[in-house]
Parts: sequence; structure tokens; C-alpha cells
Amino acid sequence: MSSIIITGGLGYIGSHTAVELLNCGYNVIIVDNLSNSVPKTLDRIKKITGKEPIFFEIDVCDKNALTDVFKQHSGISAVIHFAAYKAVAESVAKPLEYYKNNVMGLINLLECMNEANCQNLVFSSSCTVYGEPDLLPVTEKTPLKPAASPYGNTKKISEDVIFDTIQSGAKIKAISLRYFNPVGAHPSALLGELPQGTPNNLMPLVTQAALGKREKLFVYGSDYNTKDGTAIRDYIHVSDLAVAHIKALDWLFKQESCFYDIFNIGTGTGNSVLEVIESMNKNLEKPLPYEIVARRPGDVEKIYANSEKANKVLDWQAKYTLDDMTKTSLDWEKNL
Ligand code: UD1
Repeated sequence: MSSIIITGGLGYIGSHTAVELLNCGYNVIIVDNLSNSVPKTLDRIKKITGKEPIFFEIDVCDKNALTDVFKQHSGISAVIHFAAYKAVAESVAKPLEYYKNNVMGLINLLECMNEANCQNLVFSSSCTVYGEPDLLPVTEKTPLKPAASPYGNTKKISEDVIFDTIQSGAKIKAISLRYFNPVGAHPSALLGELPQGTPNNLMPLVTQAALGKREKLFVYGSDYNTKDGTAIRDYIHVSDLAVAHIKALDWLFKQESCFYDIFNIGTGTGNSVLEVIESMNKNLEKPLPYEIVARRPGDVEKIYANSEKANKVLDWQAKYTLDDMTKTSLDWEKNL
């Protein structure tokens, strides 16, 4: 079976994708600099799959080290590129670090792929490129909006870098997956989101409030033009998202050179913050404490995907429900 490099393979989405790839019989080579992940995750991937990925503690910005990985493992058939910074507020404070890490990492990778004649790339993009969309649900044809943060801009620029590289005639084929809101954890409760310090995203804050690890959850805004006034997102289970990468690879392998395409990966259902809380409460004896506060600057009111393209072309379907997402997130948080 062929070998796949996963950059950021010990991170939240990367580790779940490593599990799905190993379960499908691929050889997995993880490249991760441990900047937002821990070595223990490697043991957990082994425990779940009974298989051992190869691991390089390498920064994708270190071109020489990355080149060595391709030299040591000839015949790598594809790369799935997750390694990137992703905290919106931090990107506003440290734009150069974000542009350097996220864009330069990708450029290094594309150069290495060219040099090693590795042709297939799946890129981790985000629905953040759509900004506040004028029409819902969002299809891949929905016009992009100027990025609301340097983080968002790095995703937009990265997509452009890939597109222009392929247009130039480089022997590379690529798919960008625009993720909606990944949540949940592996059903074994051995893998999940591991935020450093105070989390920024909703689900880890919900699970912490549910277990009394924080006093309460702050709900950012109840005056949006939505069913209950709280903002709407398309939450997608991380294992469903991981499987989308396998399906994207299957599709990519069948394409001729110079191929590039984009897919939305979401469930197609929008849920409000209060609906996420309600779903979590089904797992609890006592409802989780929350307080409604002002809107968070920069938040969009509502966004959810039209994922029909991925359903039809990639033969991919999301299987997990919102209740599965809150339950597996809670089991993971209990296990931490
Ligand atoms: C955020 C980023 C987005 C990034 C994504 C990565 C912003 C503006 N957007 O998306 O660019 O791609 O993370 O996962 O930061 N909420 C609360 N209370 C909380 C935390 C969140 O009510 O304590 C609400 C938010 O207002 C939002 C929803 O929960 O309506 C989801 O928030 P979050 O998980 O941070 O994701 P996004 O804002 O969609």
C-alpha cells in the first residue's frame, strides 16, 4: 500500500485522519513540530489502529529537514497538509508569524513535492474564506469575501498558491477541503481536541463548563437574526471530516495531472449555540451553566454548507449527529 505524509498529523484533525488512513491500510508518515500537539498522541494512534505510523519531529518551514523526509521515503504517493496555525485572535496580534508559518510551510511542501515527483496534495482549508455569506447554504461557487483575519487570509492565499502552482504546469494535483466547524472526538475517547491554555472554540468550552472545569460558558450574542438569536454554525464530527480526506485521496488518485478542485466539508445543517448546549445537556444530570454576553467581534451570524458536491463526487456522507458530537466531546474531556 502506498505511503502518505500527514503534516500536522499529531494535531486534532491530523490524528483522526491518521487513524482512518491506517485503518484503510495506508502507510502513514507523520510530520509534526509538536507546537500544538503532544507525542503521546502517537501512542494513542497506535493503540486504536494496532499500527505504527512513522514520525518525524520536523517543522514544515525547515525546508532541508522536509527534503530529507522525501529522500528517506521514496515513492510517497500523497501529502495531506494540516500543519498550520489556526487561532484567529492570535493571528491579528502576530500576522507575520501566521503568514510565515502557514504560507511558507505550504511553499516548502510544494517545492519538496515537485523535487520528489510526489503529485497528490490534499489541503486543509476553511469555510472562513466565505466570510459572512450573502446566501445560504454555502456552495463552492459562493463568492469569497475579504478575509476577516490574517489567519483567514493565509487560507485564501494558500488556496491561491496551490492553484497558481498547478496552473504553471507543475506536475501536481490537489484538492482543498473547506472545513466547516470540526468538533467531537474519536469514539474510543483516546483522541480529541487538545487546546493549549484557554480554548477559543465553542466545544471545548462547552465540555469544560459541563464538567465544572469552568464556572460557566459565555454565549456570545443572543440578538442575531436566527431562530433563537444565537449564531449558527455547521458542526461536523472530526471522524467524518477525517474520512473525507480518504475519499478526497481516492478521487485525486484517479485524476490526470494539473487537476485542482475544492470541496465544502460540512453536514449541511446549521445549529445554534443554544442547540449545542441543549444537545450537551442530554448527557448531564444538571444543565450546564451559561450566561449570554455581547457578540464576539468578527463573528459571522450564520453559516452552513451545501456539501452536495462532496456527497456526489467524493461519495462522502457525514454520519455522526450533533448528539454524537457532544457525547464524544464530553467523553474525551472526561478522559483528559
Ligand atoms: C472560528 C474562527 C474561524 C476558524 C474556526 C476554526 C472566529 C471569528 N472564527 O470559527 O475563522 O476557522 O474557529 O475552528 O474566531 N461561541 C460562544 N461562546 C464561546 C465560544 C464560541 O458563544 O465561548 C460561539 C461563537 O460566537 C460562534 C460559535 O460559538 O457563534 C462557534 O464558535 P467557534 O467554535 O469559535 O468557531 P467559529 O467562530 O465558527
